[in-house]
Amino acid sequence: MKIDGKAWRTIWLEPDGRSIGVIDQIQLPHRFTTRTLRSCDEAAEAIRTMVVRGAPLIGVTGAYGLMLALQVDPSDAALAAAFEQLNATRPTAVNLRWALERVRDRVAPLPPEQRAEAAKAEAAAIADEDVAMCEAIGDHGLAIFQQLVAARPAERQQEPLRVLTHCNAGWLATVDWGTALAPIYKAHRAGMNIHVWADETRPRNQGASLTAYELGREGVPHTVIVDNAGGHLMQHGQVDAVIVGTDRTTRRGDVCNKIGTYLKALAAHDNNVPFYVALPASTIDWSIDDGVAEIPIEARDAREVTHIQGRVAGELAVVQLTPDGSEGFNPAFDVTPARLVTALITERGVAPASEDGLRNLYA
Ligand code: MRU
Repeated sequence: MKIDGKAWRTIWLEPDGRSIGVIDQIQLPHRFTTRTLRSCDEAAEAIRTMVVRGAPLIGVTGAYGLMLALQVDPSDAALAAAFEQLNATRPTAVNLRWALERVRDRVAPLPPEQRAEAAKAEAAAIADEDVAMCEAIGDHGLAIFQQLVAARPAERQQEPLRVLTHCNAGWLATVDWGTALAPIYKAHRAGMNIHVWADETRPRNQGASLTAYELGREGVPHTVIVDNAGGHLMQHGQVDAVIVGTDRTTRRGDVCNKIGTYLKALAAHDNNVPFYVALPASTIDWSIDDGVAEIPIEARDAREVTHIQGRVAGELAVVQLTPDGSEGFNPAFDVTPARLVTALITERGVAPASEDGLRNLYA
């Protein structure tokens, strides 16, 4: 995607061929800055502190993290230790484990002196594939949006398609394009009249900060709403579709996404608003069935609940929201059962949220 006319990915190999560049997402939307990651420790810290975030992007960062570790020590022991260190940073998104396993399995049979280069090539391949998958998700999602518009009565054809999204499942959550936002970008570029309701997404406000930032750079009309507004808007016919990403999708189609997604799905179900989930294959965890029982939910620092970051007089500042002494609790994700999902939009096409639906796509 372009920022001030320049095409950016969220992660890249620096010109030295040894270190990794990333966009510092903690600074957005107020400052566009980049960071260079030079060690496995720095990659792990960037994932843990959410300098990089979003399921596909943390997978790619983890893959490059293994490369950084192997440049220093390509032994079996170092590979295993780096794998564990990176995998422990964030527990919910399965893309991280998937990408780490892919790089480990690629390099482990090689002589140690060849491992760092092989890890680099594998990480680059994962990044390139992620871009292709997200773009394909965009095309399949665009077809759904076109069907929604075509199904309207003639006098409503020109009205904007009003799409609600939660958290940030856009370009910044992936390498490029995004998952849930890819169909929105495709629709906008195809000239469709589209408007996005962006949930602010407390506590870290990825919607208010990152989704709004991305949509603004791309010129997509959007409005930021508080997390609790979606149900009201649906009751009043102001939402034509909901589309979100997922950090882990079980084989029966349960989806785990940013906390609050489940409530949006319930409201959508109650108001006959279609609820779509966009995902690449790397987000499917074929080893589990029941998302509520089996997906580990990341508990983040309560300070993200009791405090909030914003810009004060031009500078980034953190302010306290809650009274001294009040505790916070901060589960970062929740699970939406498959029965509430209208369809899964993947790089291979659109499927019902069910084991048969997924297996038909990924035979
Ligand atoms: O905690 P985050 O910001 O990493 O959470 C991101 C999300 O919940 C996204 O919706 C999810 O990773 C799918 S993104 C393509």
